[in-house]
Amino acid sequence: GEDHYYTFVLRETNFTRLCATKSMLTVNESFPGPVLYVRKGDTAYVNVINEGYYGVTIHWHGIKQPRNPWFDGPEYVTQCPIPPGTNFTYQVLFTSEEGTLWWHAHSDWTRATVHGAIVIKPALGTTYPFPEPDDEKVLVFASWYEEDVMELMREALSEGGLTTLSSAYCINGQPGDFYNCSRDSTHRISVDYGKTYLLRLVNSVQNTDMYFAIANHTLTVVGWDGAYVKPLVTSCLMITPGQAMDVLVTADQPLGEYYILLSPFFDGQADDFDHSIASAIFQYNGNYSYTGLPAYPSDFPGWEDVEPATSFVKRLKSLNSVEHPIDVPRDDEITTRMFISVSISMMRCPNASCEGPDGNRLASALNNISFANPDLDVLQAYYSNVAGYYAADFPDRPPTLFNFTSDDLLTDNVTLSDQGTRVKVLNYNETVEIIFQGTNVMNSGETHPMHLHGFRFYVVGLGRGNFDNETDPETYNLYDPPEANTVPVPKDGWAVIRFRADNPGVWYMHCHFDRHMTWGMDTVFIVQNGTTAETSIRKPPSYMPPCETDSSLLSA
Ligand code: C2O
Ligand code: CU
Repeated sequence: GEDHYYTFVLRETNFTRLCATKSMLTVNESFPGPVLYVRKGDTAYVNVINEGYYGVTIHWHGIKQPRNPWFDGPEYVTQCPIPPGTNFTYQVLFTSEEGTLWWHAHSDWTRATVHGAIVIKPALGTTYPFPEPDDEKVLVFASWYEEDVMELMREALSEGGLTTLSSAYCINGQPGDFYNCSRDSTHRISVDYGKTYLLRLVNSVQNTDMYFAIANHTLTVVGWDGAYVKPLVTSCLMITPGQAMDVLVTADQPLGEYYILLSPFFDGQADDFDHSIASAIFQYNGNYSYTGLPAYPSDFPGWEDVEPATSFVKRLKSLNSVEHPIDVPRDDEITTRMFISVSISMMRCPNASCEGPDGNRLASALNNISFANPDLDVLQAYYSNVAGYYAADFPDRPPTLFNFTSDDLLTDNVTLSDQGTRVKVLNYNETVEIIFQGTNVMNSGETHPMHLHGFRFYVVGLGRGNFDNETDPETYNLYDPPEANTVPVPKDGWAVIRFRADNPGVWYMHCHFDRHMTWGMDTVFIVQNGTTAETSIRKPPSYMPPCETDSSLLSA
């Protein structure tokens, strides 16, 4: 493969949206940030120069980074933040992904403004598993906040309250026609009649799953999370934060303008939630007389429509072909089975002003553990054998098997979650099955897009209600399950993933809603080395950013 060199300058930049100007952290002064273009088999070196005011890291979302966890990016998991006034060069190995993925800041909530797409073309001498499109367009979705996102995060953490309402959603940085002062800058895609376009969608919205459609046009989904899927024809798709999709669309409608819509899915308490709709315009080239507003999609789902949110991901299937084979672990190969409850929880409030019952604040947990970042990243602590920064005792089951989806959990089953840096250790090449159970604690009406670093997993099952150990395994798709790095665990439902732990290193797993992630809906896998150099973690670079912790611990 080829080597690519990029420079990312992190810098505060002024942007004006919705009639107001604010300063925000950006890469190379653009929002969204620059697109990386590579082929499968290439390597990218990205020199991140931090000219901002606080420490930041960058993560290469969905890139497996074989044996290369030093460059994966999540702060306090695989590195400490890059301090202001310094730089850090990431090495990104594109060994097995193909399609669209993305990069983003992985420290606090800086992802809100620091993110961009990664386009991974087929390796030289190979082609797409679908007819070559005439052209392609990258569409990146994000949240817009009038306030400073770091300030919002501090509020969410100290009060756990209802302070995270976004001001708008954006398509390629633009909210679109349905917001104040926004119409003049609505993003437009110009298309030629008869041509087919490959749309590369990335969802970097902070805290909400999104529906996406183009009025009067059929979408054919051909890729998900950096792997191809069997062509899925649909009028509307659901994409969660963290996910990327490749979609073909043919400009086969009468010349004109058509709305591209992006709207939220949320079925729960609605007062702390942005229901607004972002738009862009699919605009035909040529001469036609303008007849008013662009066409609007008929039967676009409303924000409470649960069914299309849950069923969409179940319709995706991997190719399972000679050129794109899959390797789904069989039942009898599973060596570690984990049952993980995904829940909103409560935590002791650090100050007196919390909005929750009994002076507590909202938190999040996996198996009732709210993850806490250590001062020294888990990878260094593990690699250098420094004790005291994490415990290898993340539980394989929730503490109590209560009725996850009953409605009265608010009063009956809200437990204070335990805070801690508790990780799960796996042997090299173990075969893992995780059953995620979404819960209805606090009536949280959201799916949880669970994202795993370091791997692509197979989504073998997904459904509503409580997982049933007797009957639900019979519904698993072991023939052509899709591969992904982010799975939407349904509101009041479950999802089952399988993967082989063939990537030694330290790998983060978390809900891709930033609010839930910082509240503790996360944990870490340590995959131990195999017996050979080729199955062991690569050597760390000599230039990892320093941690603020006492460095004598590291040399001890
Ligand atoms: Cu896209 Cu850990 O994240
Ligand atoms: Cu979540």
